Amino acid sequence: MAITGVKGFNDILPGEVEKWQHIEATARRVFELYGLSEIRIPILEKTELFCRSIGDATDIVEKEMYSFEDKGGNKVTMRPEGTASVMRAFIEHKMHALDPVARLYYMGPMFRYERPQKGRYRQFHQIGAEITGVSSPTVDAQVLTMLTHFFQELGLTEPSLQVNSLGCPCCRPNYREALKSFLYERIELLCDDCKRRYETNPLRALDCKSPGCQEATKGAPSMLQYLCDDCSTHFGKTRSYLDLVGTPYAINERMVRGLDYYTRTTFEMVTTMLGAQSAVAAGGRYDGLISELGGPQIPGIGFAMGVERVALLLAEKEFARRPDLFIAAIGEEAHAEAFRLMAALQRNGIAVEIDYEGKSLKSQMRRADKFNSRFTLIIGEDELAKSAAPLKNMDGGTQEEIALDAALIAKVIKVIKG
Ligand code: HAM
Repeated sequence: MAITGVKGFNDILPGEVEKWQHIEATARRVFELYGLSEIRIPILEKTELFCRSIGDATDIVEKEMYSFEDKGGNKVTMRPEGTASVMRAFIEHKMHALDPVARLYYMGPMFRYERPQKGRYRQFHQIGAEITGVSSPTVDAQVLTMLTHFFQELGLTEPSLQVNSLGCPCCRPNYREALKSFLYERIELLCDDCKRRYETNPLRALDCKSPGCQEATKGAPSMLQYLCDDCSTHFGKTRSYLDLVGTPYAINERMVRGLDYYTRTTFEMVTTMLGAQSAVAAGGRYDGLISELGGPQIPGIGFAMGVERVALLLAEKEFARRPDLFIAAIGEEAHAEAFRLMAALQRNGIAVEIDYEGKSLKSQMRRADKFNSRFTLIIGEDELAKSAAPLKNMDGGTQEEIALDAALIAKVIKVIKG
């Protein structure tokens, strides 16, 4: 019996991969406009890194990590997200000594043992960005503007931006207590998970999908009412900078995040097009994370998008690559000439296809159609005899005779490149 892949781990095949390459290239282009540089981080990290950053009482750390002991007895984990690794690298390489402001982006696979469904996988891919060293709300607005710009460049009208503030260690404890007393009266309505995390992580009840939790949290106090002066000013300024540059957003006071490191601004890019998996990108500020991981007191902010989810939003768009030219050749001599031409044109930056097996003209033209090539050149015995062949523009339907002489390659390049 043939061996199949592991559940929740997917192949990305040609046909689909062009969409991914387009998403990745768009991210690189847009992020670099905003001064970000790429960082490549390893897939495996010490388990402790994620326990300390994401938080012991989160779903990710409690039940979703791919953790194991390696042959040396070290406890390691396949990264469930990128922020912790980027900050570990930032501290380990003392990047802050050179400049506390680091503007970094990354892309690659992440691993979470979740129940797979549309838009949710066990190996999934993120494109993320992290900016350290700036507490000014201008950077919050810039990160959100860059993310919005990225989706605009992809030509998507969804997803839309929702923002919230989760306060800081100074004001959040008061809010937690207020929320706990509100929920105390309704604790029987909460699902088992939210009952269990009532003490450790009561805010999660606010975004829990279970009907009981939704009922229980109706009319719950909002974090925004509990922000301290500094957090409230920060949130107000973030909003006014967003308005200043025309980045659209809505406030979602019930948004809480599934990772513990967030402070102040948090956000999600949400869509209604992917069923339960509504978050296409998400992130926020993490002003305490770098010091929590043993580095200096340097603030940070960032986000990550799920590439599979972005690709699903682009489902309707066509990304298949088109060759510039298909050369159909009849007979052995013509076939050799087509092969020579193909090699010379490819070396000159023209994408060329031929039919390797030299089948009938009809079947070769079917292949040209399948490739959807922009031009075709047909070389048969007649063409070789009169030293001229028809070069046809498949989009415009126009055709011109091209002499099969020493200037052929230059002429074909001129026609194709326009
Ligand atoms: P997150 O909300 O856990 O945040 O994940 C970010 C995005 O990754 C989600 O919005 C979703 O699009 C995608 N994603 C997450 N889990 C899956 C899955 N199982 N299958 C498919 N896609 C998924 C973080 O990971 C933070 N590190 C984001 C961040 C960066 N915050 C600050 N900087």
